Amino acid sequence: MVLDIVIMAAGKGTRMKSARPKVLHRLAGRSLLQHVLQTACALGADRIVTITGHGADEVEASVGAPNLVFVRQMPQLGTGHAVQQAAPMLHDEGTTLILNGDVPLIEASTARALVDSCAGAKLALLTIELPDASGYGRIVRDGDAVRAIVEHKDATPDEHAIREVYTGMMAVPTGALKRWLAQLTNDNAQGEFYLTDIVAMAVADGVPVVAAHPGSETEVLGVNSPAQLAELERRYQRARADVLMEAGVRLADPARFDVRGELACGSDVEIDVNCIFEGSVDLGDNVRIGANCMIRNARIAAGAVIHPFTHIDGEALGVTIGAGALVGPFARLRPGAALGDEVHVGNFVEVKNSTLAKGAKANHLAYLGDASVGERVNYGAGSITANYDGANKHRTVIGNDVHVGSNCVLVAPVTLGDGATIGGGSTISKDAPAGQLTVARAKQVSLPGWTRPVKKAK
Ligand code: UD1
Ligand code: CA
Repeated sequence: MVLDIVIMAAGKGTRMKSARPKVLHRLAGRSLLQHVLQTACALGADRIVTITGHGADEVEASVGAPNLVFVRQMPQLGTGHAVQQAAPMLHDEGTTLILNGDVPLIEASTARALVDSCAGAKLALLTIELPDASGYGRIVRDGDAVRAIVEHKDATPDEHAIREVYTGMMAVPTGALKRWLAQLTNDNAQGEFYLTDIVAMAVADGVPVVAAHPGSETEVLGVNSPAQLAELERRYQRARADVLMEAGVRLADPARFDVRGELACGSDVEIDVNCIFEGSVDLGDNVRIGANCMIRNARIAAGAVIHPFTHIDGEALGVTIGAGALVGPFARLRPGAALGDEVHVGNFVEVKNSTLAKGAKANHLAYLGDASVGERVNYGAGSITANYDGANKHRTVIGNDVHVGSNCVLVAPVTLGDGATIGGGSTISKDAPAGQLTVARAKQVSLPGWTRPVKKAK
């Protein structure tokens, strides 16, 4: 059966007090609208119609999906008026599912169940009982049968006592929806065209009205303010943390843990407090992540230990860390850093677009950019690759078992042969032969008889 999905996203979001359109605020690293769109795509919709208004240009530029179209609603005269704008884009048969761009955590399974209860023939409302229903449209029933939705501002005191509310999501037979939309009026307390008025129309037409319910309240919470956004973020992160802990991941504190993307973990993974995982991160068996690490687009192999305050950002190229490697504290791994097994990268070491082969060590205050580092190399404190000549980047090749002393400058392009030793303080601009000591610094001199200047008497 044909499934069309309408996402309402024209509202301003005044209470966000932000220049950014409400649906573009981020939850777990993605915009509210992206969350809803991802759910819509998971349902296999034939067409997704997103209604934009406030910040339409920005909103429309921010997302894309096959079958996604936009319609604009200007001005915004209510939810019924919004769906009226979408009507010409909907098929004539099948089901239309209405979602909200500012209700990001609706589960695909719940939306699917709503569409199933509609079955192309009934009006299916997603409803929930709330302890405090104020502000919401109330579900008015005659016995078990739904009779109407009454908006809070139009409700009588008796209706205010109803705790079952409309969540803003429904599934409707599309043909009937188009007919009912054409009959909406704005004769109500807010002078708006209410989509919810179609419920009484369905009842009058003898179309059955049924209610489906979400798995949890979190799925139907909307974002209207920064406080609500933060609350939903924490609920989302807690749910992600629970799934990981269920699978055996040991989180020091699930309340201080954030995933903004996908995090895959092997067995016996331990993650200390305040770590943020972004993009796609893969942690092998027995990996330990210290406190306050930021890790984005990286694969970390079994038994590696990432000490506190390490920043790893693979961007598009990715970062890989071999089995048993030790990284940090305070290390920075940038795109294209590929650390082999048992590599050590210590404090204040930056690695970019460089491979370090098995057992290589750069333990203190160093920079490796555009370098290939051999096995068991020891790269001294304060040494750097001068990989950029102001116009182009060049590579540094360091063979196996090379020892680079402290405070060396390796002016690329340059190659250090296997087993070479570079004396501390050297500036190496020519290749260093294998197995020899190369020193490139001024010879040490001492001046016998030299005396320190003394202060002149006045
Ligand atoms: C609506 C429902 C109410 C329900 C509540 C759930 C109506 C008349 N009322 O209330 O029964 O309990 O949602 O949160 O539908 N929007 C537009 N264009 C408009 C107006 C709204 O695109 O002209 C969008 C908003 O951006 C938002 C959604 O529609 O995403 C709901 O609008 P909102 O103003 O929050 O709905 P309420 O009137 O509070
Ligand atoms: Ca609302």
